[in-house]
Amino acid sequence: MLSKDKTLYLLVMISVGLTLFWWSNDGKSYVHIISTPNAYSSYTGIWPSLAGTNITLDEIEDKFNRCKKRSISQISACRDVHAQSSRYWRSVSKGSWTDDEDFKRMNLASQCCAFNHTELMVPAPRAELYPWERELLFLPPLCNLSDIASAERSVIDLLTDTSDGSLTLGSEVKFKIFLFNGRGERRTSGGDSVWVWLVTSELGASIAADVVDNKDGSYTASTILPWSGRVQVKATISHHRELFRTMLYIQRLFTTTHWFTGRFKNDRGSETTPCSPLPFLPGFPEPEVCNLTDVNGFPWFCGKPAKKDLLNCSDFTSSKKLNIPSDFPLTEAEEELIRMWETKRPFMIANKIIIDVLPDTHVFPQPDLPCNKRSLSLTFDEVNSSGFFYNKTWRPLACQLPRVDKEFLRTCLTNTQMIIIGDSNSRKQMDILTKMVECTDQIKRTRVTWHAPLRCDVDDLGLSIKYYPHKMPFYGTEGEDLPSHVLYSSVSQLDAIPADGKYLVHLHQFIHLVGFHLSIAEHQLRQIRKAIERLMARNPHVIVVYQSAFTFIEREFRNKHKMNVFLVQMQKDILRGLGDRVMFMFTWPITLAAENTYGHPMISDQFTKYYMGHVCGRW
Ligand SMILES: *[C@@H]1O[C@H](CO)[C@@H](O)[C@H](O)[C@H]1NC(C)=O
Ligand SMILES: *[C@@H]1O[C@H](CO)[C@@H](O)[C@H](O)[C@H]1NC(C)=O
Ligand SMILES: *[C@@H]1O[C@H](CO)[C@@H](O)[C@H](O)[C@H]1NC(C)=O
Ligand SMILES: *[C@@H]1O[C@H](CO)[C@@H](O)[C@H](O)[C@H]1NC(C)=O
Ligand SMILES: *[C@@H]1O[C@H](CO)[C@@H](O)[C@H](O)[C@H]1NC(C)=O
Ligand SMILES: *[C@@H]1O[C@H](CO)[C@@H](O)[C@H](O)[C@H]1NC(C)=O
Ligand SMILES: *[C@@H]1O[C@H](CO)[C@@H](O)[C@H](O)[C@H]1NC(C)=O
Repeated sequence: MLSKDKTLYLLVMISVGLTLFWWSNDGKSYVHIISTPNAYSSYTGIWPSLAGTNITLDEIEDKFNRCKKRSISQISACRDVHAQSSRYWRSVSKGSWTDDEDFKRMNLASQCCAFNHTELMVPAPRAELYPWERELLFLPPLCNLSDIASAERSVIDLLTDTSDGSLTLGSEVKFKIFLFNGRGERRTSGGDSVWVWLVTSELGASIAADVVDNKDGSYTASTILPWSGRVQVKATISHHRELFRTMLYIQRLFTTTHWFTGRFKNDRGSETTPCSPLPFLPGFPEPEVCNLTDVNGFPWFCGKPAKKDLLNCSDFTSSKKLNIPSDFPLTEAEEELIRMWETKRPFMIANKIIIDVLPDTHVFPQPDLPCNKRSLSLTFDEVNSSGFFYNKTWRPLACQLPRVDKEFLRTCLTNTQMIIIGDSNSRKQMDILTKMVECTDQIKRTRVTWHAPLRCDVDDLGLSIKYYPHKMPFYGTEGEDLPSHVLYSSVSQLDAIPADGKYLVHLHQFIHLVGFHLSIAEHQLRQIRKAIERLMARNPHVIVVYQSAFTFIEREFRNKHKMNVFLVQMQKDILRGLGDRVMFMFTWPITLAAENTYGHPMISDQFTKYYMGHVCGRW
């Protein structure tokens, strides 16, 4: 599909042509390069999505050929898919009602890794590389698993002096981690993600450490010792930098790890086409894309139905994810690494460090400052060691949380409208609160994985809690069609809040966004930020809580959260500085210290208590 021959390569480029256009007016970060006929001007010889990276056409071609061959050997139908891949991304079935057949064909194309890079490399999801892309996409593709950091061979040392074998309560403790590859060679550059935390299981106590990448293959972790007793040190290579490189490669070239489709339907016919928050779709050049951004609230594009006599863009009804994440062309070692990451985590760095914290049977005293008197903007400055578990209860180090129980919440939420917008972890917050305040459900759920709004009321308190699932991209369950009207745009919901009345807004975004190139999340976060600014200016009685991405060390096959490290930083950076009625619910340290292994963390009630303990008493 790709030619190493520069002449042919240039010819293809010229015929495609390039033009620049600005996706949003809020900064240079959304320059998108879209192919349009006759707009070719200053082509410099680098495919836009590869510009600034070390990804070579040879790498892409080798990977593609390997994947093609393998897919055909595993699924014979892939032979035909590769011979004419655009016929699998576009509707070619006879008859008027082809939506199901179209969907099946796209699933097959995706399983056969039948993506046409030549088309998909023309635009870049974001003109400039993110700093982490610049760093990691300079690495060569992984070709031998022995090259990655090996947890078995890596070491962690205690840096803090413990000449008498013990440390005192409240003191700082430092560690240095040295990574070695599978051949036993010291790594000499950084980029791996290393997590460290301390545990005393008998006390239900744990704390996460702040880890600094020294960029020389070593990492320095520091935290404090807020309880006494015997402390165990846990360290893990949570993400190998080659995993990041592999995922970033997929996101740069293919924009997502898991594609969506859209259904178009009216009383005369139906059809399914590929969809994405970027207008770059397999099989659909730019002029043949429906812009459904107005329907979705956030950018959303689907291929234009081929049955032009029957269907047009306004017949779009719903979106549905492909059944499984796509098979993308990678090296064998990269595929192995992904498999390893999905089946063998956590990669623990063994150690025999024992820390005895004296004096015995003490815990750091709770600060005098009540959390609802602490400036909420300080929640954006929290680090991994800003709080700890003791007796399985999360204790911030900066302030004292009140006892958050039914009475407390009912008092706090009297005459309050609470609006929760996000994914199933937002629904989880709704469920926890519904139970705690004994709120009466107003919407009957007909299934457990409920992807539609919810509402509960406590009439005598004038309290109502509403949940809205966020807009596309939103992965439903397999085969589930999500009509646009069951999903809600956080921006429209924020804008709909009136200028008076007591409101508590809870926002959360994570799993549905991190599979995509992070420019999608960035764009949404910037729009949300502006909506929060408008809301703050309009209504003096509203408080907003943004719940961050979290950690997990689970082994789920095809998990989607591999880029959480970058998303959480982006969330913090973009939403910072919105004033004293916007709180950042930094879930990272809590899930890290809890060794969370679930997509819906078991300790989610600790988040509830944390943010409620911060916001209650402020109105
Ligand atoms: C990929 O797209 C290019 C440009 O549109 C086209 O010339 C080429 O035939 C396509 N390759 C395949 C395998 O469909
Ligand atoms: C990446 O490219 C830069 C310059 O373009 C080069 O100096 C470097 O050696 C390359 N790195 C690899 C790993 O190929
Ligand atoms: C990977 O490297 C190891 C150690 O250097 C070597 O034994 C092995 O043959 C290599 N594997 C491949 C597939 O090249
Ligand atoms: C899609 O539509 C939105 C809203 O109407 C508009 O702002 C945006 O520029 C359009 N995008 C493209 C690529 O046409
Ligand atoms: C789409 O088709 C409907 C009839 O199904 C028609 O009313 C409408 O004007 C068409 N819209 C466009 C943009 O062509
Ligand atoms: C928290 O630790 C993670 C590793 O778990 C590290 O990547 C991150 O930089 C740390 N964050 C802060 C704010 O210290
Ligand atoms: C630990 O918490 C439980 C309930 O969560 C409580 O009953 C118990 O008294 C606590 N223990 C200590 C030592 O604080």
